[in-house]
Parts: sequence; structure tokens; C-alpha cells
Amino acid sequence: MSEQNQQQEKKLIFSGIQPTGTFTLGNYIGAIRNWAPLQDEYRCIYSVVDEHAITVRIEPAVLRRKTLEAYAQLLACGIDLEKSLLFIQSHVPTHAQLSWVLNCSAQFGELSRMTQFKDKSRKHQDDINAGLFDYPVLMAADILVYNADLVPIGADQTQHLELARVIARRFNSRYGDTFTVPEGYVPPVGARIMSLQDPTKKMSKSDENPNAVILILDDKDTIIRKFKRAVTDSGSEIVFREGKDGINNLLTIYSAVTGKSIEEAEKEFDGKGYGDFKLAVGEVVADHLAPVRDAYARLVDDKAYLKECYTRCGAEALRYSQRILNKVYRKVGFVASEIR
Ligand code: TYM
Repeated sequence: MSEQNQQQEKKLIFSGIQPTGTFTLGNYIGAIRNWAPLQDEYRCIYSVVDEHAITVRIEPAVLRRKTLEAYAQLLACGIDLEKSLLFIQSHVPTHAQLSWVLNCSAQFGELSRMTQFKDKSRKHQDDINAGLFDYPVLMAADILVYNADLVPIGADQTQHLELARVIARRFNSRYGDTFTVPEGYVPPVGARIMSLQDPTKKMSKSDENPNAVILILDDKDTIIRKFKRAVTDSGSEIVFREGKDGINNLLTIYSAVTGKSIEEAEKEFDGKGYGDFKLAVGEVVADHLAPVRDAYARLVDDKAYLKECYTRCGAEALRYSQRILNKVYRKVGFVASEIR
């Protein structure tokens, strides 16, 4: 089989991440670190979703800087541009164009039930804008405009993915087979990494307490200090059990980073104290992230290289997605245009 045919045979992956801050250990374990190993088996398309990021207020200069930093962080996490595409969402207008069409297949009631919309509207009561409400439709467009088969995400995005599947099916039944109905790819361990300060809450880039969040660019001392301060419980046993949210989270992180099972980790720390355990988790995480930090430092200031990468990948993503958008436009009855 020719290399081109082999490429076409491969299933397609799409995933995205918002450039709203340095990526957290949650982003890393739940999503990004699964992106690189998928590159050999699948055709992978990854995006820094800056259009999603403006659904909450962000200073333009900050967004511009964080978008480039996010791009460099993803390269540092092992996205290989010989194998995958990595681009900036706003460079590829087909996403927003498809999103409009899909809006007309998404129901108000469905969007109102999205938990992320409810959470963010509570948090940003002075700016419950239409983009925040419509966010999952743009996410559906990101995925469907490539006819992606598989979407690697953390557990907090499964409701959005389910909506993308509903929209795809609804469009297909109304206009005839057009979209692949995508499957989620949620890791068995670490799909929901929790805050170190309140382990009933997910670890989030926007957390105001810096001790709650490990950033993938934190240095070793900072990582260890944050783990040492992690909230646990008044017991002393290092076991994964209901009611031990803090310890469960630390065991999950340890297991995800070392590849050992939770049971193996429990055995390893049998009889040890919480202090030793926290230190051990901090050390494996810091050692695991050290190469990412080094690679990032080499990449982030090379603006010319980053530009060359996102320009080339964006152009290819546009070519690819334009074909699918043209098909959609035909199906819904738009008159063919010479302009596009
Ligand atoms: P975002 O930017 O919030 O997060 C990026 C990825 O990280 C995962 N994640 C977590 N996983 C485990 N534990 C955590 N604490 C944690 N926090 C975040 C998220 O599940 C996600 O996979 N809407 C998306 C971005 C997006 C997208 C898409 C994703 C836009 N279009 C198309 C997939 C396909 C988001 O806000 O992710």
C-alpha cells in the first residue's frame, strides 16, 4: 500500500485545548500526554482553541501571548509535526463557519443543560454572553469539520462530546450521511485530576489558589512544595477508598505518572506516612515534567519557528476541512460559490 493510502486508511483524531493559562497537571494527565503516543496509530489533528478562550474575558495581549505559549507547550509535550497537525483555531475559519450551520441543528434546551455553561455562568454573572452558551457547538464543529473518529479528552469534556455526537446524528438524519459520529477517548486512570487544596473540585487553570494547581512548567521545588501542602484527611492509611478524596487523587496522579497500578502504589506505601507519600508523588511528577520544561524553554522564544509551524499546519487543516465544509454547504442547500 502506498504511504498516501496508508495515511488515508488511518483513523482520524481531533482534540483541542484552550490557551487560557499554563497547562495544569490535570490537562496533562487527562488529555495532552495521551496525544503524543496516538500519533503513530492515527492521523492526529490538534488545535489551540483561541476562539473558545474569548467566551470569558481575557486581555487581547494576554491571549496573544498565551496562545503562542500554549503552542510551544504542546510541542514540548511531544506533538511531532512530521506526524500530526497542530494549529491555532482562529487561523482556520472553517470551524466557525461550520459552527453556524450546526447551530441550526442544536437545541436551546440541550445547550442550557451543559454543566460547564451553568458553572461558568455562575462564575461570570456579569458576562453570560452568547458565545459561552454556544461554546459546545463550536467544539462540535472543531471535531466534525475533520470527520474525526476519536477525541482524546478528560472526563469534564464528555458531556460536550456527547452533544457533538447528537448533533452529528441529527444532521445526518436530516440531510443524509455527512458526519462521522466521533467516539471519546478518556484515559482509564487520571481522567479527572482534582485540586490539591479541595480534592472534591477538579484541578483547573483558572483556580485562584496557586497551591491547588500543579502547572506543567513549575520547577521541582515548587512542585514538591505544592504536593507537601496537599489537603488529605485525618487518617493515616494510603489506600484508595471512598471519603479519602485527597489520597485518592494523589494515588491517581502517582499511578498515571509511573504507570504502576493503584494496588501496586498502595502496596509500595503500605505502612508509610502521608508526608513520605506526598514527597514521593512530588518527586515523580517533577522528574516526569522536567523534560517538558526544558523543551519548552528551548522553543518558546523561537517565534520564527513557531510561526512557520502554525502557518504550515493551519494551511493544511484549512485545505482538509474546506472539503468537508463544502459538502455540508451543498447538503443544506447553499448555492455553490466561486469565491470560496
Ligand atoms: P480545556 O482547555 O479546559 O482542557 C483541555 C483538556 O484537558 C482536560 N482536563 C482535565 N483532565 C483531567 N483532569 C482535569 N482536572 C482536567 N482539566 C482539564 C480536558 O478534559 C480537555 O481534554 N472544550 C475544551 C477544548 C476543546 C476541545 C475541542 C476538546 C475545544 N474544542 C474539540 C476536544 C475536541 C476545553 O475547554 O478543554
